[in-house]
Amino acid sequence: MSPTARHWVLIPAAGAGKRFGAAVPKQYLPLAGAMVIDHVLGLFAEHPAISGCVVALSPEDGYWADSLYADHPRVRRAVGGRERCHSVANALETLAREADDDDWVLVHDAARPCLRPEDLDLLLDVLASEEVGALLAVPVHDTVKQATADDLIEHTVPRERLWRAYTPQAFKLGLLRRALAEAEASRMIVTDDASAVELLGLNPRLVEGRADNIKITRPDDLALAHFFLQQQGRIC
Ligand code: C5P
Repeated sequence: MSPTARHWVLIPAAGAGKRFGAAVPKQYLPLAGAMVIDHVLGLFAEHPAISGCVVALSPEDGYWADSLYADHPRVRRAVGGRERCHSVANALETLAREADDDDWVLVHDAARPCLRPEDLDLLLDVLASEEVGALLAVPVHDTVKQATADDLIEHTVPRERLWRAYTPQAFKLGLLRRALAEAEASRMIVTDDASAVELLGLNPRLVEGRADNIKITRPDDLALAHFFLQQQGRIC
């Protein structure tokens, strides 16, 4: 790794949160007196190892102005895209104005407020000896079934080497830009950043993180996130 490589954070926050079903996109929902995205930015904006953050926002965004971090000197904005991968690609272009190709970019979902600071630090430590990139993930402990289109079990998938991919997912700026551009050229909609890098034939490293780093997706998840933040002592 280049000894001068810096670390940046990219937060895709341009989703409408259709699965959640609320009028307000999930990253802007209130959670313990702040917006979900503010809990996320609270982890990164002042972190000594992070040089700056870029947040990808929907062109129709009407909520970001109320964020505690809207005018933070280390937080920039970019315009989001149709899918998450387009939002990340756009924000990388913004980041490329001040970051180098060899700098690390940690992509973290705006809807994952329960990332633990120690997991973030673990990932940063791992990057010091990685070339391709690394992401937080959790091994699958349930038995996994492959189904037919009408919900009949087709077969059981061996779970020994299955993981759930979480975020942050960290890659060098230049590599991730190339990976997302190639995925786009092949008309692939990748649902995480590692998938784009995998399409280049590379093998990012899985780093076991805590399972409470959930992505708020359904209404029940908000109460769960509140509980996890309380357990972590981050809120009263
Ligand atoms: O929809 P999903 O839960 O997969 O979204 C994950 C993250 O990607 C969220 O933080 C969401 O705001 C963001 N996103 C985005 N641009 C989109 C769709 C989702 O930045 N077009």
